[in-house]
Amino acid sequence: MKESAILQIGDQRIELPVIHGSEGGKSIDISGLLAKTGLTSYDPALANTAICKSAITYIDGDKGILRYRGIAVEEFTAQPTPNFVEVAWLLIFGHLPTFSELDHFRDQLTTHELLHEDVRDVYQHIPADAPPMAILSAALNHLACVHKNYLNVDDPESFLEVTASIISQVRTIAAFSFRRSKGLPHMYPDPRLRYCANFLHMMFSSPYQQYEIRPEVEDALNLLFILHADHEQNCSTSTVRTVGSAKANLFSSCAAGVSALWGPLHGGANVKVVEMLERIYEGGMTPQQCINNAKDKDNPFRLFGFGHRVYRNFDPRAKVLREACDRVLPNIDRQDPLLDIARELESLALNDDYFVERNLYPNVDFYSGILLRAIGIPTNMFTVCFAIGRLPGWIAQWKEQNEDPGSRIIRPRQVYVGNTQTGYVPITNREV
Ligand code: CMC
Repeated sequence: MKESAILQIGDQRIELPVIHGSEGGKSIDISGLLAKTGLTSYDPALANTAICKSAITYIDGDKGILRYRGIAVEEFTAQPTPNFVEVAWLLIFGHLPTFSELDHFRDQLTTHELLHEDVRDVYQHIPADAPPMAILSAALNHLACVHKNYLNVDDPESFLEVTASIISQVRTIAAFSFRRSKGLPHMYPDPRLRYCANFLHMMFSSPYQQYEIRPEVEDALNLLFILHADHEQNCSTSTVRTVGSAKANLFSSCAAGVSALWGPLHGGANVKVVEMLERIYEGGMTPQQCINNAKDKDNPFRLFGFGHRVYRNFDPRAKVLREACDRVLPNIDRQDPLLDIARELESLALNDDYFVERNLYPNVDFYSGILLRAIGIPTNMFTVCFAIGRLPGWIAQWKEQNEDPGSRIIRPRQVYVGNTQTGYVPITNREV
């Protein structure tokens, strides 16, 4: 029997269908509400609103579950860890790739890895200290200027090509922005290297000396990218969907995602976490002062890397990253005092009523920065690395929406609370 919800407004009684998700989640379908009642629904920050049906990523925030296409994220992070490129394919195309699909995808990633020289030249002239996230967003948009043939992709091979171009070139742009900030020569990608190794090569090799890629370091980066690959309708992903719903091309939609991700409440939190840990390390505050500041409602400070809109339990990604820090740092001789400080902060917070009552646990950003530091990634590149990891998710969500015959332009409503109609007053008649 179909389930429904009854809404009574004055004398009017309407029945709203209840939609059932495949994992038991339920949602009241209010898509006919305005037409039937003249009323909109009010849901600031869309905290209670499902904006789409999606088959890509499942999260149970109470149980701390995260699955990509039905597969628990822990399965992708167990040793030996699958390859990020395989996970990207899974997210975008909905199934684990066969050998031939994976080979073809890898070939495409290699074919499209070079950044158009015109794009590179434009960014030669930006200030050396320009924020890498600004460069990444601008350069992704810029790809639309040099790949005009990919602005409308309506056949599977073109979609694969544009997907490979973005996933591959985001790495090239990221490494370029880092080299530029250091005044170092641009390193071209090496087609013999795998995805993560190639990124490390472009970041750290020099024309006269090849960077030695340690397998532990490559694996740690691969793990980080996998853990960031998708997270259903978060701020940047819903931005990508919003832009894409206007039928904007994939480059611009992903560039918008980068802009949203930059914010410190979203992907930018990984930078804030390390700045906070460094401040404690340098004696600027004690761990307990940090906790007290975060609890103080008159202080805008937050315990970065803690709390989540969806998880009311441990973020499973934080658990994996915590273990990865414990495993990887000693292996590559990179003991980091910030890891001890992070553990102390975590313990203080998890035993503090304020955090317990509000179900605030470490999120993905709490330990990711420590692992990135161990890999040798500078702090201003942390959120860029988050973006590289998140791209397959954005592309998968853009594709799913684009292929949904029922999808419409995203256009929310508002409750207007401004002036009622008032007249225009010429400037000469206005009171000073
Ligand atoms: N430190 C101190 N208090 C917090 C924190 C925090 N990190 N997070 C939430 N709270 C408090 C908040 O003040 C509120 O208290 P009260 O009920 O007394 O008003 C309560 O907990 C609920 O928080 P909220 O702000 O209503 O929750 P939200 O769902 O709107 O925000 C969040 C989620 C992630 C933006 C928030 O927890 C936060 O600002 N965390 C710190 C930034 C951070 O780590 N962001 C990365 C998120 S994970 C990666 C990603 O998806 O981008």
